[in-house]
Amino acid sequence: MSLTKQISLFSLLLLLAAGLIFYITGNKTQPESMIPVTVKVPKLSFKAANGKILYDANCAACHGANGAGTQSGPPFVHTIYNPGHHDDAAFYRAASQGVQSHHWKFGNMPPRPDVTRAQIKAIVTYVRELQLANGITYKKHTM
Ligand code: HEC
Repeated sequence: MSLTKQISLFSLLLLLAAGLIFYITGNKTQPESMIPVTVKVPKLSFKAANGKILYDANCAACHGANGAGTQSGPPFVHTIYNPGHHDDAAFYRAASQGVQSHHWKFGNMPPRPDVTRAQIKAIVTYVRELQLANGITYKKHTM
C-alpha cells in the first residue's frame, strides 16, 4: 500500500473513532457547564400546574426550576428523558426505589417514598408539558 493510501486510511479510522466517542458521550452526558439548560416555560394545564407545585417541593432541589437541572441532578428538559426513553413508569420507579447513577455523574438519586403515585402522575404531566414546549417528543429507544 502506498504511503498516501496508508495515511488516508489512518485518518479515516481516526475520524470514525472520534465519531464513535462523540456518539457515545454525546448520548449519555451533557457538559456540566451547560446545566441548567435554557427552558421555554409554557402555559400549563390545570393538572400540570398542580404537578409544578409538587415538583417544586420534591424534585426541583436537584432537577432544577422548570426541569432545567442543577449541579445535583439532571435536567428533565433533555432528550434523554423523552417519553420513549424514560416513560412514566421510570418516574414511579425513581420515586419508589431511587435511581442508581448511570446517565450522568451526579451520583445516585435517593428514593422518595413519601411522594405518592398520584402526586408523581401530576409531576409527570408537568414534566411532559415542559418537554413538549421545548421540542422534546417521543423518540423510540433503540439502545
Ligand atoms: C437529591 C437529588 C434528587 C432529588 C430530590 C430528585 N432526584 Fe431524580 N435524579 C437525581 C439524579 C442525580 C438522577 C440521575 C441518575 C443518573 O442517571 O445518573 C435522577 C434521575 C431521575 C430520573 C431518571 C430515572 C432513570 O430511570 O434514569 C427520574 C425519572 C427522576 N429522577 C425523577 C425524580 C422525581 C419525580 C423527583 C421528585 C419527586 C426527583 N427525581 C427528585 C437526583 C434527584
